[in-house]
Amino acid sequence: MRPLKLGINIDHVATIRNARGGLHPDPMRAAILAQEAGADSITIHLREDRRHIIDSDVFEIAGGLVIPLNLEMAATDEMKEIALKLAPEAVCLVPEKREEKTTEGGLNVIDVQDNLREFISELQDNGSRVSLFIEPNEMQIKAAHYTGARAIEFHTGRYCEAVEKGDYTAASECLSDLHIGARLAASLGLDVHAGHGITYDSVTEIARIPEISELNIGHFLVGEAIFIGLKDSISKMRQIMDDARRVSF
Ligand code: PXP
Repeated sequence: MRPLKLGINIDHVATIRNARGGLHPDPMRAAILAQEAGADSITIHLREDRRHIIDSDVFEIAGGLVIPLNLEMAATDEMKEIALKLAPEAVCLVPEKREEKTTEGGLNVIDVQDNLREFISELQDNGSRVSLFIEPNEMQIKAAHYTGARAIEFHTGRYCEAVEKGDYTAASECLSDLHIGARLAASLGLDVHAGHGITYDSVTEIARIPEISELNIGHFLVGEAIFIGLKDSISKMRQIMDDARRVSF
């Protein structure tokens, strides 16, 4: 059975800290707890406006983990400089708009594929595996492959939103796009990841897509931690993912 890795995004621990200023709750402490709960990697998104994770978090977390760090960032010169200095195991390139609440959709790789090729090769030559956060769309997948990125991460937001609303027609269309996209990406030799908006209710069908090798999950687990604690919220997600994977192989 192909293992399915779980990356934990701890951005929103920093969101809560920043709501008051000060040091609590500490994202580093959350990263260590997630590691102890069985996370395969920690994801943090350093946004241009530093609304949650700040530069000092990035360097502290990078230096304090046993498991790999996945740095999410926009493809800007400022972020490239930080990533080159830090050399995290993984970098995920995401689109970023100041006015958005979260990363609302995938990157439009087609429009910037030539620029991205150079940007990605610098990061990958520096030892970071680069993934591109995209919609499960044939043209985007082919463009991502052209850039030389080793991985793609599918934006699962539309699927998860349809599940949450109980719109099963839309959910099944989105799921089909994810299956078709994952098959195409894997056939091109790309590692296939997925993330955004995943909850206990939406994770099973995503985890059953055999080509997907990694899920990155944040907001729901940090929210659930208020009720059951961070370790338990992560362990429960891990259990549902493992059960889904067992049934489908
Ligand atoms: N993967 C990527 C590339 C993201 O941008 C995000 C959200 O920041 C996530 C995964 C995690 O999404 P969520 O917080 O909704 O679980």
